Amino acid sequence: MLRAEEIHAAKGKLGVLLVGLGAVSTTFVAGVEAIKKGQSEPIGSVSQMATIRLGKRTENRSPLIKDFVPLAKLEDIEFLAWDIFEADAYEAALKAGVLEKTEIDTLEQELRKLKPHKAVFSKDYVKKLDGQHIKHGANKMDLAEQLMADIAAFKAEKQLDRMVMAWAASTEVYLEADAVHLTLDSFEQAMRENHPAIAPSMIYAYAALQMGIPFLNGAPNLNLEVPALRALAQAKKVPVGGKDFKTGQTLMKTIIAPGLKARMIGVNGWFSTNILGNRDGEVLDDPESFKTKEVSKLSVLESILEQEKYPHLYGDLFHKVRINYYPPRGDNKESWDNIDIIGWMGYPMQIKINFLCRDSILAAPVLLDLILFIDLAQRCEMYGVQEWLSFFWKSPMTAPGLQPENDLFIQQTKLKNTLRYMMKEDMITHLGLEYYDQM
Ligand SMILES: NC(=O)c1ccc[n+]([C@@H]2O[C@H](COP(=O)([O-])OP(=O)(O)OC[C@H]3O[C@@H](n4cnc5c(N)ncnc54)[C@H](O)[C@@H]3O)[C@@H](O)[C@H]2O)c1
Repeated sequence: MLRAEEIHAAKGKLGVLLVGLGAVSTTFVAGVEAIKKGQSEPIGSVSQMATIRLGKRTENRSPLIKDFVPLAKLEDIEFLAWDIFEADAYEAALKAGVLEKTEIDTLEQELRKLKPHKAVFSKDYVKKLDGQHIKHGANKMDLAEQLMADIAAFKAEKQLDRMVMAWAASTEVYLEADAVHLTLDSFEQAMRENHPAIAPSMIYAYAALQMGIPFLNGAPNLNLEVPALRALAQAKKVPVGGKDFKTGQTLMKTIIAPGLKARMIGVNGWFSTNILGNRDGEVLDDPESFKTKEVSKLSVLESILEQEKYPHLYGDLFHKVRINYYPPRGDNKESWDNIDIIGWMGYPMQIKINFLCRDSILAAPVLLDLILFIDLAQRCEMYGVQEWLSFFWKSPMTAPGLQPENDLFIQQTKLKNTLRYMMKEDMITHLGLEYYDQM
């Protein structure tokens, strides 16, 4: 890992390759363009708005993160996208219905420029969608090569210095790990033989990694965790991250559950339900795509509450998650959580949370931060899974055999301490040694 003055500079342009031009991607692109024009503030973005304390409390050093580490500038970002629908980013943003039309209209010129390339797609992996803007090829390897050709042409046209690819496309059906995923050779052979265990998201990831481009998996699909893609990331020295953007209800869970656990309050039931009316909600209405999401959402509480360590407090936890497709609500998801908690002498209490959230408004800054931080990781020559970015993921990937960290506050400490270490600053323990020294 390169540190401080050794880190490669963020010179030139950064290409952002978006797989899927739906609600999250269009909200993200529109936001970046609005910020660049001075029309909007990057609210929700840690890289743009958060400060980081350095040194002792008495030193009063708290720069903005973006002034502390060498991040790419928003002005240096160029976008490319793929989608199964032909709509450009302006039309797609209108269709997504996240932002007001009047707002989108002020950005029409910028958004119209982003026209998606034909996608690598098969209905076998997303049952609820039908699009015609699709690549055809002899086999899955041929499709990966077509993606690489799109990327190479974009890089040349925009004269890019670096790129990052992010999966912000629909959630694919639940897939189990397969023997063909075990080695790069068997994976490539399976691509040439059109094996069903190779999902479209894996073809995009393969194309990115082959070209040395960091890949972020914003959905819960089985993807980067297969050994073949992990091995490719290592071999090509590329940082990767996943999976599933942490927004909405899960963000709330990872804020509240650590607090209950910190105070040793028991939890024996957590019922979470959602109504959601956007295309993501429609895709998740298919039980096979929902299963992928459910596994991602369920794992969070188990890992925070550590049932095996605290059987009296969390051993009987009943955790249920539901997503209901309800078109009138559009992207403005509403979630309800009923949490059954247990206090002193076993007395039961309840917490009810009704979150009227806007999913893509929460996801867009997460996507921005992930892109900027993974680009930074690459310039620090850090590669493989970037656990320090767990803060942004619903189901953070780890090195094989390790437990993921889901507690938002531990994740935040890890993120900030990694940045401090990167810049050769002392890590902060909050011990306040200078205070104890006077005692
Ligand atoms: N909105 C959030 O807060 C949030 C949070 C966590 C994860 N996610 C995940 O992010 C992804 C995007 O969410 P969204 O709300 O933007 O969904 P969306 O349905 O609005 O957009 C997804 C887009 O991907 C396109 N697509 C599907 N398969 C494709 C393929 N193989 N190649 C290229 N394009 C393809 C679809 O046509 C669609 O335009 C979903 O998987 C969702 O589960 C979203």
